[in-house]
Amino acid sequence: MSSAPILETTAGDPERPRHVAIIMDGNGRWAKRHHQPRLFGHKAGVEAVRRVSRAARELGIEALTLYAFSSENWRRPEQEVRDLMGLLRHFIRSDLAELVRENVRLRVIGDYRRFSADVADLVDDAVARTAGNTGSLLAIALNYGSRAEIANAARELARRVRDDGLQPEQIDAPAIEALLETRDLPPLDLLIRTSGEQRLSNFLLWQAAYAELLFVDTLWPDFDAATLREAIAAFGRRQRRFGGL
Ligand code: FPP
Repeated sequence: MSSAPILETTAGDPERPRHVAIIMDGNGRWAKRHHQPRLFGHKAGVEAVRRVSRAARELGIEALTLYAFSSENWRRPEQEVRDLMGLLRHFIRSDLAELVRENVRLRVIGDYRRFSADVADLVDDAVARTAGNTGSLLAIALNYGSRAEIANAARELARRVRDDGLQPEQIDAPAIEALLETRDLPPLDLLIRTSGEQRLSNFLLWQAAYAELLFVDTLWPDFDAATLREAIAAFGRRQRRFGGL
């Protein structure tokens, strides 16, 4: 471990982000606008997941990370949590073949083992079946919380100090980063939140340190390839300085 700066934050292609993350917000409001129950909005949200992950591949984005279920989402009514699990189960069953065919590597970040055993097993199977793929990465955040992710890294470093002779002075930003769940994803370039809300909601707090943040009014079920292209164009207009001039 070194105290060198994290050089990966010194830019790739200024026009095209390598790694885009999205806080998919607004399913409930979209459903309300259509005078439908919330589940209708979440179903339309899954359609948007399909559309946008295809569009991201076509645009040559290396990694797309989607916030599907936060560690705080357990506070929602039990039925809604069940509905979201049902949609996830259905999504994996129906879309895995396409992900395999399209050479996509599926990753999951978050403590998804807290979901029911059948969902957790489906996730494990889907991740394993795409592990050998070499194309773009689709990371889905399930029961994910950024503070817990950072706390887990800190706990592991403390354990290494106690058991493995790690010196506290050796603990630096790269050491923490190497223990985050996103360690094998490219650095985050662009973080989008839909539906007009302007919060990070415990999503990729560490990784967002030098990401461009983009808040769009579009409700997630209306997000499509054109919205993604506009977001990337907006990214291309940003000046990224990473603390320099
Ligand atoms: C936010 O809308 C959305 C969520 C909490 C869930 C996102 C889930 C999906 C898009 C579907 C499942 C995903 C996969 C990958 C199968 P909200 O309900 O908070 O909307 P509101 O703020 O308008 O009420």
